[in-house]
Amino acid sequence: MSLLEVTSLDVLYGDFQALFDVSLSLPENSSLALVGANGAGKTTLLRTIAGAMTPARGRVVFDGADLKNSPPHHRVREGIALVPEGRRLFPSLTAEENILVGAVRARPSAWRLPQIYEVFPLIARCRNRRAALLSGGEQQAVAIARALASGPRLLLLDEISLGLAPAIVDGLYDTLASLREAGTAMILVEQDLDRALAACPSVVCLLEGRVVLSAPSEGIARDDVVAAYFGTAS
Ligand SMILES: Nc1ncnc2c1ncn2[C@@H]1O[C@H](COP(=O)(O)OP(=O)(O)O)[C@@H](O)[C@H]1O
Ligand SMILES: [Mg+2]
Repeated sequence: MSLLEVTSLDVLYGDFQALFDVSLSLPENSSLALVGANGAGKTTLLRTIAGAMTPARGRVVFDGADLKNSPPHHRVREGIALVPEGRRLFPSLTAEENILVGAVRARPSAWRLPQIYEVFPLIARCRNRRAALLSGGEQQAVAIARALASGPRLLLLDEISLGLAPAIVDGLYDTLASLREAGTAMILVEQDLDRALAACPSVVCLLEGRVVLSAPSEGIARDDVVAAYFGTAS
């Protein structure tokens, strides 16, 4: 059965429609790369799944339950955790305090601090430093750790590599791979197509708010994804 089933979503900001008839589905323990140019609607889709935006039409069904009218904090309880674009940490709190914020609505399966420090040795070293003083890579690791502290079954990751050095991004992706092995499903928004395709067994591409490609990553021609991305597919 699908863990997540998104059907025919229309999402608007006032008069401006950002998503048109968007559908996708994600099996348990799987991951999906969500790609598309700037402004394609990736963040809007993740925010709608997380409950931060209400669709004008369509449904988000998680683990068989329609999430209509379910506010964001209920969705966290159900196991949906968003790692937002730009990390959004509390700058004056320490790394560890930021992580504990994520534990406020923790599920029984939530990750505890020792477990988190085991997969993120990077954070263990700076746990008592204020978030404002952390490097970009450390901040991103804390943002992911904060999501893990709620015990998610589905992680929504919005451009985690933005502005980070490739070696740091490699480290984050290694950690994501171990989370997937442990059974956490993911939707990964990523600008780097090669990284996205390598990390996830399926890919969905948005163009101006519409799904223009939805396919298994294996065997898909990179050029076809690029054409979908730029809207130059024939
Ligand atoms: N708060 C907002 N108010 C109005 N329009 C918005 C807002 N946020 C995003 N948009 C618009 O919605 C579209 C999709 O944006 P977004 O989901 O952020 O795209 P992406 O994450 O793929 O770059 C864009 O045209 C963007 O300008
Ligand atoms: Mg975005």
